[in-house]
Amino acid sequence: MTRVNKKFYITTPIYYVNDKPHIGHAYTTVAADVLARWHKTKNDKVFFLTGTDEHGIKVAQAAAAAGIPEKEFVDEKAQTFKEAWQELNVSYDNFIRTTDSNHILDVEKTLQKLYDRGFIYKGDYEGLYCVGCEQYKTKDDLIEGKCAEHNKEPILMKEESYFFKLSQFKKTLEKKIYSDKIEIQPKERKNEILSFIKRGLKDISISRKNVSWGIPLPFDKSYTTYVWVDAFLSYLTGAGWLGKTDSYPEMWPPEVQLMSKDILRVHGTIWPGILLAFGFPLPKKIFVHGYFTVNNQKMSKSLGNVIWPEELIKKFGVDGSRYLLMSSLVSGQDSDISWGKLAEKYNADLANGLGNLVSRVAKLNEKFRIKKVKPAKKIKNIDKLFEEIKLKEILDEIWQQVAWANKYIEEKKLWELVKTDPKEGKKVLKNLISLISGIGSVIAPFMPETSEKIIEILKTGKTQQLFPRV
Ligand code: MSP
Repeated sequence: MTRVNKKFYITTPIYYVNDKPHIGHAYTTVAADVLARWHKTKNDKVFFLTGTDEHGIKVAQAAAAAGIPEKEFVDEKAQTFKEAWQELNVSYDNFIRTTDSNHILDVEKTLQKLYDRGFIYKGDYEGLYCVGCEQYKTKDDLIEGKCAEHNKEPILMKEESYFFKLSQFKKTLEKKIYSDKIEIQPKERKNEILSFIKRGLKDISISRKNVSWGIPLPFDKSYTTYVWVDAFLSYLTGAGWLGKTDSYPEMWPPEVQLMSKDILRVHGTIWPGILLAFGFPLPKKIFVHGYFTVNNQKMSKSLGNVIWPEELIKKFGVDGSRYLLMSSLVSGQDSDISWGKLAEKYNADLANGLGNLVSRVAKLNEKFRIKKVKPAKKIKNIDKLFEEIKLKEILDEIWQQVAWANKYIEEKKLWELVKTDPKEGKKVLKNLISLISGIGSVIAPFMPETSEKIIEILKTGKTQQLFPRV
């Protein structure tokens, strides 16, 4: 039975535009794309949102350093994200920018309503602020006085501020997360956020006095909106919400929100807190994937070890890059990559693995011209693996079949067999073509162009090199 029109709304974080995208951003976006494409093949009604987070101190500082007015700077940088996703064949349905005028209008309307309903009040705030995170930090968050994520000392901020009454949602949030009403995956991340909430949730400051690059608070224009509140609302505005706090968009709520551990804490507290204040349904699942490190170090511009998607594409092609990204992170864990490891994997799995398999079989089939094959074997548990977002594990399963098929050719000495015993040779070839056509369709969400090429090769019998060695 085919499922029809099950709703599937998926989001990536909206990325800061202080710089162009690197492969960390590319990982999350391609992973969301793979999931969106998979759900499309299931006939689900898919909505895939990505975008850019363009306000706040961090972006304003980057614009100042570049000596370009903020708006010009963010326009330019947002474009680099759009281009990267286009090059990586990412099929998003909407790209939201927090400087879009409709987003700004919606944020203003929303904040006014939260204020009118008594969820926002004025008070004093003093705390240590990390500009890199755009977040206040507690002493416990710091390692030797520095932010663990950015390795920089936070600045002391003290100002009169508007607060959102997050503390009142502590119990509800705890319950919703504990009972998987918002399912936080993997389990260790769920436990981490639960123990954070258990330690107590404070009201949060949602305004900035000295940051001019932001959306002015509708009820007090001498302040701008805290960049995270602005950013969270993009998950609603990007899905066609019109800032109506009494109704949510048709696609609401997201089935999956993808991100890495760096931004889980805010997504597990402030974000659902805002939704609870509106009385909106909460996202069904937050999936936290691991981090890429490069040569065992955090990727950073100052270390000069950042890998940019365009470099990856230049070396490994679009599908080669998508494959390497998706097969390099074990579900929920960090992974170390390097140019050397990537090239090795590309040559082993793609040039010698899949590419070689397809070209050998197509070549041997030139004589037989087998087109009709029995339905190919499916990957066991593939639905479940997609449900659990085990993307590398799916690829590993597929590549076991690739390896098996290459071994099968060797063991049968197929190039000789087709001559010495054409009947048996043809049988073996049929099995292989059936397997390859199965692989060709199952890799489609990961490698859309390669999938089409394989199907084309099998149909026409015309060989082409899929993955030149690097
Ligand atoms: N603007 C905020 C998100 C707001 S969402 C309402 C932000 N932006 S970011 O540009 O810093 O992007 C963070 C995200 O990029 C991570 O959560 C993750 O999805 C991705 N990655 C950034 N670096 C990464 C790695 N080194 N490895 C894997 N993914 C990483 O936070």
